[in-house]
Amino acid sequence: MALSDFLAELDALAADAQSAFSIAADADALEAARVEFLGAKAGRLKTLQKGMGQVDKADKPTAGKRFNEVKKLVEAAFADAQQRATSGREDASEALDLTLPGRPVRVGRLHPITQTIGAMKDIMGRLGFTAVEGPEIEDDWHNFEALNIPLSHPARDPLDNFYLGEAASAAAPLLLRSQTSTVQIRVMENTPPPVRIISLGRVYRPDTADATHYPMFHQIEGLLIDRGVTMADLKSVLRLFCQSYFGGDDDQADVEEVHVRFRPSFFPFTEPSVEVDMNWHGGWMEMGGAGMVDPQVLRAVGYDPEEVTGFAFGLGVERICMRQHGITDIRDLYQNDVRFLSQF
Ligand code: PHE
Repeated sequence: MALSDFLAELDALAADAQSAFSIAADADALEAARVEFLGAKAGRLKTLQKGMGQVDKADKPTAGKRFNEVKKLVEAAFADAQQRATSGREDASEALDLTLPGRPVRVGRLHPITQTIGAMKDIMGRLGFTAVEGPEIEDDWHNFEALNIPLSHPARDPLDNFYLGEAASAAAPLLLRSQTSTVQIRVMENTPPPVRIISLGRVYRPDTADATHYPMFHQIEGLLIDRGVTMADLKSVLRLFCQSYFGGDDDQADVEEVHVRFRPSFFPFTEPSVEVDMNWHGGWMEMGGAGMVDPQVLRAVGYDPEEVTGFAFGLGVERICMRQHGITDIRDLYQNDVRFLSQF
């Protein structure tokens, strides 16, 4: 074969290959073109390479050199085309498909305890009680002393309280408050009577967690101080509170009767003291403690027990929330399992 023929065939092949690669519309067409030109067994380049054996011996270096150039060119043209094909596919996947259904926006909701607290503030607000807050880290005075819990009282036991650091033995220990009654003291210290407040917040006791205990829980504390306040006022307020929370509002058609009963009890800061039970859907439930504020406590904050009297109560928020929703394990409230929480 004459050198000129061989070179002409090479040029033709290069031109054909370039156009075939550039017009290949999809991956299949490109692959077919690759096999046609670059196929290892019967591709046109391969066939031409075999033909090189018939070129005159003296022309072989020229033919070989040109063959290698064309081979590189064709391979480069193929690589280009392949690159274009794949990047085109990426573009397509990023293209906006207006027919796709939208993704639903996940709407969060308030934790059941937060909802309960909100409802309680609402109800007590309508009864004229202002919500106030107090610190969760407390001192001995507000958590014990001013509440008539003397140094020797077992309620101060280190095993029943979260004292901070070495505080248990310190002269002025700090602790995580074990009750919201601390807020009674803080309010009375800073406000002259009359007082009509509630305080809702976390309290801490080193209990082992089980279905009904958790080392942190919430209380709603109520305090009313005025002239001539009696136990009857305490019972009325608690009954109205329970009635509104569980029984529905008076303007609803299906108001359910909710009953409240007192059982004699003891708290150092109230006298007399009671346990408060509530009846709803036919079963009694313990809600917490209450009583008439002890004159000792009134004196500790500078009130005159001859002038004013008052009642206080402290109820468990989790208990009320659990009863309302039929929750049987308090730990469910604090596992942060969305499957549980999203039901409320
Ligand atoms: N602080 C008491 C408790 O945590 C409850 C209570 C509050 C009792 C107010 C009487 C008056 O158990």
